[in-house]
Amino acid sequence: MKKVGNHNSNSRKLFLSLALMLTFSLTSFAQDATPAAATEAPVAAQGGDPVKGKELFNSNCAACHKLDAKSTGPALRGIAQKHDMAWIYKWVHNSADLIKSGDAAAVKVFEENNKVPMTAFPALSEGDIDSIIAYTSEVKAEAPAPVPGTAVAGSSDQGGISNSVILGALALVMAMLVVMLFLVNNVLRKVAKANGIEVASKTPTTPIWKAFAKNQFLVLVTSIFLLLASAYFVYGFLMQVGVDQNYEPIQPIHYSHKIHAGDNEINCKYCHSAARVSKNAGIPSLNVCMNCHKNIAEVAESTATPEYSKAFYDEQIQKLYTAVGWDKSTQSYTGKSQPVKWVRIHNLPDFVYFNHSQHVTVAGIECQTCHGPVETYEIQKQFAPLTMGWCINCHRKTDVKMEGNEYYTKIHEELSKKYGVDKLTAAQMGGLECGKCHY
Ligand code: HEC
Ligand code: HEC
Ligand code: HEC
Ligand code: HEC
Ligand code: HEC
Ligand code: HEC
Repeated sequence: MKKVGNHNSNSRKLFLSLALMLTFSLTSFAQDATPAAATEAPVAAQGGDPVKGKELFNSNCAACHKLDAKSTGPALRGIAQKHDMAWIYKWVHNSADLIKSGDAAAVKVFEENNKVPMTAFPALSEGDIDSIIAYTSEVKAEAPAPVPGTAVAGSSDQGGISNSVILGALALVMAMLVVMLFLVNNVLRKVAKANGIEVASKTPTTPIWKAFAKNQFLVLVTSIFLLLASAYFVYGFLMQVGVDQNYEPIQPIHYSHKIHAGDNEINCKYCHSAARVSKNAGIPSLNVCMNCHKNIAEVAESTATPEYSKAFYDEQIQKLYTAVGWDKSTQSYTGKSQPVKWVRIHNLPDFVYFNHSQHVTVAGIECQTCHGPVETYEIQKQFAPLTMGWCINCHRKTDVKMEGNEYYTKIHEELSKKYGVDKLTAAQMGGLECGKCHY
């Protein structure tokens, strides 16, 4: 019986330490949530009107500032907590003067942002600035609940919720196990006592790790737990490799496909003319832009949206002019140009061969099948996952267009006999052979 007692007290220590570990991991989960809530305490700005502030912000500041992310300038939400209003008035009216005067805070902000000068706004009244600050002091709205059906399957950021649910469930199961074992232990002790058996509770103990190593059940449970946890992390890591779906970088010029390809119905191939005839679709040179923009120096009032003002769009066209060296007042080129470095969005690894003309011209696939409803994108992004599975799935499903293609007539006859079908998919034409896509 002594042996049993010894066993019991040891395993009790183990359960206790397990329980401790669990509570620890649970609190560290909970901690994730608290700081965010704490830092978002609203700050009342002196009597400003946030609605008017939003309007002023969008037309004057949004070209360089966002509320919650760094853009050309730093994020501005909660800026009233960082500086007092007197400083902010001076800064917005003329930040260069403030920096020149040697103001420590101003110099620091300037240097932290690579010494990019901020536009001076001498025309904004203090009341206007109060309103802008009132707007930047608004508490961030909760992210809207995801609308069912809009989630894109396989999108890498969708995994978060279900994964923490799984982790939570695992933790719960472990917790229940601990509690149950604890209860069983107690009952056994009571039974032992009732039968008049003395349970030695403070016998000399073996070190915990030794007891642990001896207890095969615990070792088993722990290793299963560890295995599951590591499999989960390895899986998560692998699924992210090379998948940049919805990648949406900020471009040097805010160029809207919605305005060009959507509202103004400019054909994709006007700008991406190479898609028809070559491997790459290509990004148009700025000369192509100037075909139209010699005459379009600003957008119509009606083009502005609550998110992007007319002033913002006009400034983007000005950026185009600066880049090609176009002086709109004299309507001539200055000869001083600086290339625009568009950020590349789609990028297959080097060992994959993909050819646009094969898909666009030969197979007659619409751009939108692979790139999504581009004509609605205010900001261009990666629509498809660009994984091997994605290419192959489509090759399995899509029939090759045979009509009017002499090259295929003969192959088609032979292959359709071989497969005994009328229509051939890209896969049956050899679209699954490794060598077709891999060098
Ligand atoms: C042309 C781009 C540009 C515009 C337009 C602009 N800013 Fe800035 N702003 C910056 C940059 C860049 C900085 C960082 C300091 C620096 O490098 O001069 C900055 C810094 C600031 C700061 C200090 C931030 C900090 O972290 O301390 C405030 C406040 C600010 N801007 C407010 C405004 C307001 C309000 C407007 C609109 C009325 C505005 N800015 C318009 C570029 C701009
Ligand atoms: C007026 C010229 C113009 C038209 C018309 C146009 N684009 Fe673009 N497109 C661009 C420019 C400039 C870029 C680079 C900037 C960007 O990514 O927003 C680009 C980028 C892209 C990219 C991302 C390239 C990358 O880096 O991976 C895709 C995909 C794309 N366009 C598809 C389309 C499709 C589909 C259409 C037709 C619905 C279309 N474009 C119409 C000019 C144009
Ligand atoms: C076929 C004519 C045409 C071509 C080519 C063209 N644009 Fe435009 N662009 C327009 C029109 C039309 C507008 C919208 C005017 C309006 O809304 O009043 C516009 C608006 C813009 C704007 C402001 C709205 C926005 O998208 O942010 C920018 C910036 C711009 N164009 C950049 C470019 C660049 C860069 C290129 C070359 C890659 C280009 N445009 C090629 C016709 C063209
Ligand atoms: C079968 C799918 C598919 C179709 C159809 C398709 N694309 Fe692409 N597109 C891709 C893939 C994949 C890439 C990435 C290529 C790479 O990284 O080498 C890409 C890249 C691009 C790029 C980036 C620059 C480049 O050439 O790599 C542009 C711009 C583009 N596509 C425009 C278009 C336009 C415009 C059309 C319609 C005329 C079109 N695409 C049709 C799959 C497609
Ligand atoms: C939307 C459907 C679709 C997607 C997505 C797609 N393809 Fe295709 N692909 C086709 C079709 C259809 C053909 C047959 C074209 C033909 O020859 O008539 C084809 C043909 C090819 C061929 C030539 C095969 C041969 O037999 O000569 C290659 C190579 C290829 N695709 C590579 C790719 C790669 C790489 C990707 C992914 C990055 C991809 N495709 C994504 C539809 C697709
Ligand atoms: C229709 C085109 C296509 C065919 C056919 C194809 N692959 Fe791929 N493969 C791809 C693309 C696209 C990628 C890049 C995936 C990524 O970046 O996530 C890729 C990636 C890979 C990788 C790298 C692993 C990874 O996930 O990044 C290996 C290995 C590979 N392919 C092997 C093969 C073998 C073996 C075959 C023949 C059975 C084959 N592929 C046939 C398009 C193809």
